[in-house]
Amino acid sequence: MSGKDNVVNPERRNFLGTVTTVAGVGGAAVAAWPFVNSMNPSGDVLSNATTEVDLKNIPEGGMHTVAWQGKPVFILHRNAEEIKKMQELSTIEPVADEKRVQDPKWLVVVGICTHLGCVPNRAENGWKCACHGSQYDDSGRVTHGPAPHNLEVPPYKFVSADKIVIG
Ligand code: FES
Repeated sequence: MSGKDNVVNPERRNFLGTVTTVAGVGGAAVAAWPFVNSMNPSGDVLSNATTEVDLKNIPEGGMHTVAWQGKPVFILHRNAEEIKKMQELSTIEPVADEKRVQDPKWLVVVGICTHLGCVPNRAENGWKCACHGSQYDDSGRVTHGPAPHNLEVPPYKFVSADKIVIG
């Protein structure tokens, strides 16, 4: 063995260092993938993440309740008179009706009282919570406490003129 065999080529060393680093990072990523993937929502959770609603089945003046992520969601098909009345702002948490709807005919709200979480019942002009008497109008805005806030408007979008997807 000559002394020349012990000389290390710096370019070769850099190349080996790069290959080792890339392989190490890639191996760590491959090894971590099952763990990272296990934190993604399962199939049944994803299937409940959105709820599709066919609005054709809800007549004017009618209300339909659907489940979305384990919560009731009220969908109210408002008529012209109800829409007009909702232009008034006599609520505890004033928010203009047009900021709570995408189409004035359709109100979509989570049906959970913002006081302590009971499900309000449909009343003549909105909803009334039987637990402690809170009332909401046809825009889901609280008109009588003790509920402190309006009914929540969930994320939703129209996928056609008569179909929405909540979530
Ligand atoms: S939970 Fe609705 S008023 Fe208290």
